[in-house]
Amino acid sequence: MLRHCRALALVLTMAAFLLAVGCSSTSNPTAGTPTPGGPGGSGAPGTGDIKVGCYFSMTGATATFGESTMNGVRLAVDEINARGGVMGRKLVVLLEDDQGQQDQASLAVQKLINQSNVDVLVGEVASSSSIAGGNIAQSSAVPMVSPSSTNPKVTQVGPYVFRACFTDDFQGASMARFSKDTLKAKTAGILTDKQSDYAKGLSEFFLKTFEAEGGKIVGEEFYIQGDSDFKGQITSLKGLNPDIIFVPGYYTDAALIARQARELGYHKPLVGGDGWDSPKLVEIGGKDLDKTYYSVHVDVTSTDPKVQAFVKAFQDRYKSTPDTLAVLGYDTIYLIADAYKRAGAVDRAKLRDALAASDKFPAISGAITMGPTRDPIKPLVVVENKDGKTVYVTTVQPQGSTATAPDAGTPEPGGSPLPPATPTATPPPPGASAPDRGGPPVGTPATPGSPDGQ
Ligand code: PHE
Repeated sequence: MLRHCRALALVLTMAAFLLAVGCSSTSNPTAGTPTPGGPGGSGAPGTGDIKVGCYFSMTGATATFGESTMNGVRLAVDEINARGGVMGRKLVVLLEDDQGQQDQASLAVQKLINQSNVDVLVGEVASSSSIAGGNIAQSSAVPMVSPSSTNPKVTQVGPYVFRACFTDDFQGASMARFSKDTLKAKTAGILTDKQSDYAKGLSEFFLKTFEAEGGKIVGEEFYIQGDSDFKGQITSLKGLNPDIIFVPGYYTDAALIARQARELGYHKPLVGGDGWDSPKLVEIGGKDLDKTYYSVHVDVTSTDPKVQAFVKAFQDRYKSTPDTLAVLGYDTIYLIADAYKRAGAVDRAKLRDALAASDKFPAISGAITMGPTRDPIKPLVVVENKDGKTVYVTTVQPQGSTATAPDAGTPEPGGSPLPPATPTATPPPPGASAPDRGGPPVGTPATPGSPDGQ
């Protein structure tokens, strides 16, 4: 009898707990804080805004990551709202600056969920911050999409966490093959940020493929983000005379490393990953960046009409050329809008299921199909810095991918260094040049949105 009573008490306590947790997070995403315009979360069209919680580094050593992504996010949000929103509801952006710090990313996500009661999360760029934020999104059952975090661990956090980009196994392998086949490197050194999940993962994947293909890693050196003197590490690596040095860090570090490497007399190629992608890279590194190569998510100089329509809308609004983070921010919002349309309701669990079912969604950066691990398989673009400019080198199609190449049909100078060039690439769907993904009514030309200020 006593045992039964205890069991009953336990069940009741658990039920009360689940009710409390469930009400504030899962079952009714907008309970507690009614959204303006009606009782949110009911799924009925036109009853309140959809709150998109964004967390990014708007300040600090990776500030352009946040700025660029948010420029893409706001452009997409304003286009969609100008066409009537999603299911008749307006998208509203709530932004938290995490200063590029993991602990701040956790706090930012907690705030967006607990205080702002967001319906969906968008963030971060740096993988370590997405892992931190993703853990909280997952435990609160709020769907999160990272536009650009590439470390495999990001989506391993759980089924509520998605990404809109390729992953580092592909990126590391692609840059290793590019170094071997195109740059003809037989030996490589590696200079890694040892506190960054992204840099550590990418250097491992690079190393594995470079050695598997017969190359030799002659030395590996480490630093931590925020360091500004890399001369000791560069001197050690230079002494081993590698054909290239792989630098899988973020742009501020990469640019400083390029400057110090040239100063110390190392003039061979430096190779990096998408973390180099920033207008600040060339600003800091200048001519010292000549003979450096890195990967990005889309060729913004491509003649693909879809890419060009985006670039034009971006330039009209911001008077600058987008980097690929802006593209991924834009793509992520349209991906979410498309998922909401298929979900048919503003409901966190339904949105999660719809995101998971994304199938050949025609993003600017390449078609997005969420596999079982919520990791899209997409092409990668290699660029080179030359005379203070960043120029397109080649596109690498993932093996066995059915992804739509963003610039399918664009001749590739020199051809892809990676066999095989995927024969399964499909042309963009008809009308794909009009950004009609996710926002009814469709077919309206891209409307430059109202000035920032949401
Ligand atoms: N892929 C990087 C990471 O996971 C972030 C990044 C993406 C930076 C694209 C620049 C451009 O940490």
